[in-house]
Amino acid sequence: MTDTSRKVVQLLIASAAHRLNGGRDIERMTIDARIGIIGGNGWLGNAIARAAVASGAVEPGRLILSGRSDNRGTAEIPGTQWTKDNSELVERSDVVVLSVRPEQLSGVRIDTRGKLVVSVMAGVTAQTISERTGTSDVVRSIPNAAAAIRRSFTPWFATPSVSPEGKRLVQALFEACGDAAEVPLESHIDYCVGMTGSGAAFPALLAEALIAHAVAQGLPRDFAKRAARGVVAGASQLFAGEDDDTAEIVQAMIDYRGTTAAALQAMLSLGFNESVAAGLEAAAAKASTMASSG
Ligand SMILES: NC(=O)c1ccc[n+]([C@@H]2O[C@H](COP(=O)([O-])OP(=O)(O)OC[C@H]3O[C@@H](n4cnc5c(N)ncnc54)[C@H](OP(=O)(O)O)[C@@H]3O)[C@@H](O)[C@H]2O)c1
Repeated sequence: MTDTSRKVVQLLIASAAHRLNGGRDIERMTIDARIGIIGGNGWLGNAIARAAVASGAVEPGRLILSGRSDNRGTAEIPGTQWTKDNSELVERSDVVVLSVRPEQLSGVRIDTRGKLVVSVMAGVTAQTISERTGTSDVVRSIPNAAAAIRRSFTPWFATPSVSPEGKRLVQALFEACGDAAEVPLESHIDYCVGMTGSGAAFPALLAEALIAHAVAQGLPRDFAKRAARGVVAGASQLFAGEDDDTAEIVQAMIDYRGTTAAALQAMLSLGFNESVAAGLEAAAAKASTMASSG
């Protein structure tokens, strides 16, 4: 075995061992605050509620969810409170999560003075949220669809008045949904609407490209779908640990000068990085348009 191939194998084994070991050795914080989720019957709000309880971060009795129509989804979280009255939710909560669609925000009339408001809405600025809810303690975040399986990476931004305890709570809430990190600028959140908020869309696009090519080469579609899933959702787990360095993996593959290097170089020379950059810039531009109209 050459030095390079040994390095590749070591990298992959280390990554796999890290995954088997649970990926990240995080001691999860238990949240004592009462949390209200406006739009808790919706797709994302309910996923956050389920993740918070399933991870043990929040006792179901400390959660209150609201929606205008019905309490769909709450049956899966026994012990959680439900209301159609957002003012009652605010009264019974220390922290209010806003999980309605951006265009539905105007229908949410609440006074959260003195409380922390955590928004998951794409494109609605902290200033707008502050004006609509009456608090200066605002966190903007962008979870993604993988929150439903507690695999969302959630960036979040806090306005200057949010206390260190408030920030620890937000980090704990979103770690319950996967992983999370604070960003220093609000504009980073608008950027992340595309980069992390798109969730499974980018890997799904890669899988589709793999499938289309394999089918064009005459491979059966069912086989191509299973193979692409294996590569995109399975093999990528090798670098899913926190410390695994994708640059190192790519470089090790290129240095190996094998078939993977040939594939990578062909993709890179045809503008793979430029395509990804164009996609991310388009998403960020769209997010900032939403922000200015939010
Ligand atoms: N889905 C994602 O992957 C994703 C990713 C990142 C960010 N987000 C953001 O998450 C937010 C929610 O998205 P979603 O996909 O979960 O949408 P959704 O399934 O439509 O959920 C929104 C919920 O808000 C409730 N609602 C609307 N107005 C309300 C009001 N005045 N009071 C109380 N509840 C109200 C609705 O229920 P009723 O009709 O019963 O009131 C609905 O269940 C959006 O702002 C979106 O930008 C979503």
